[in-house]
Amino acid sequence: MVTSGKGGVGKTTSTAALGAALARTGQTVVAIDFDMGLRNLDLVMGAERRVVYDFVDVIQGTAKLPQTLIRDKRIETLFLLPASQTRDKDALTEDGVARVVEELRSKFDWVICDSPAGIERGATLAMRHADAAVVVTNPEVSSVRDSDRIIDLLNAETEIAKKGERVEKHLLLTRYDAARAARGEMLAIEDVLELLSIPLLGIIPESEEVLRASNLGSLITLSKPWSALARAYVDAARRLRGEAVEMTIPSDKKGLFNKLLGRRGSQQQRIKTGNTEASAKHLADDTRRTFMLDRLSGQTAAELGLNSQQQKMKDCNAKAGELKLTGDARRAFLSSCLKAT
Ligand SMILES: Nc1ncnc2c1ncn2[C@@H]1O[C@H](COP(=O)(O)OP(=O)(O)OP(=O)(O)O)[C@@H](O)[C@H]1O
Ligand SMILES: [Mg+2]
Repeated sequence: MVTSGKGGVGKTTSTAALGAALARTGQTVVAIDFDMGLRNLDLVMGAERRVVYDFVDVIQGTAKLPQTLIRDKRIETLFLLPASQTRDKDALTEDGVARVVEELRSKFDWVICDSPAGIERGATLAMRHADAAVVVTNPEVSSVRDSDRIIDLLNAETEIAKKGERVEKHLLLTRYDAARAARGEMLAIEDVLELLSIPLLGIIPESEEVLRASNLGSLITLSKPWSALARAYVDAARRLRGEAVEMTIPSDKKGLFNKLLGRRGSQQQRIKTGNTEASAKHLADDTRRTFMLDRLSGQTAAELGLNSQQQKMKDCNAKAGELKLTGDARRAFLSSCLKAT
């Protein structure tokens, strides 16, 4: 399963990209969209016009599985089981999900479940039958915190965990922005790894290509196979298959350029947000000018917020060090320390 807790971190994007990369090796792959009511995976996979029946139809017996599965037009071993757009997660029954997943498991090499956001029923239904979980996380405190909660759920709510075994867990760090990392505006990779303490599957760079591809329904590993983005997903898929592939940390090619222009860039940003705020407050003339000058000499709220995240991480790390905590105890401590305001 592909999961995260927090919404909008890149689960659906990753399901499609990993699914396509695995299917390209000739193995058979089916991606299941568990996000009832939102139905996003079909768009990202470019199949939205071909949806006739969906997951709920199969569970309720109004359609059979073979007629519901959509075969990808580009990769013949890639399939999609779409979510219902009109029904919500309550239309999925425990038994129905179990039956469909078992049937698919017997027919495909990979069954990838794209989880909805949150830690409630939709997410637990999607994780129930998982052998392995890809925990999609962005390098920021709120995302790491939610991933931590999902890891606890994976250890409690899955069939495997109930048998006393462990679900295999992999961390997929997405939307990693090397330039922002260098400026200290995001959690460092080491911090995320330490907080979650599960093995790293890959680091996916922040890229405009994701939005472009999803608007066109083109698969990112196919449309620009040599881009850092596509390569990062292909490598992650190879690691998922058990191959040892060297980890690439997305580099900051624009680093120097940003250093030279960074000052001006952030000033421009301040002017822009200052202007928006001033207009919202209906400020004019002198009051507006004073307000704008204040804004330009100070930091924006966003900058302050991001810096305080890093500061918090540093403080919590220092405290954990003082207490000489390691392993699970350290993870639990860091997680509650970050939660505290
Ligand atoms: N590597 C990336 N670089 C830039 N944008 C990205 C990247 N990955 C995802 N996005 C963008 O982030 C948004 C959310 O992505 P996506 O739908 O895959 O997340 P999700 O976790 O499935 O969300 P939800 O919780 O709503 O299901 C989309 O607009 C997508 O284009
Ligand atoms: Mg999604």
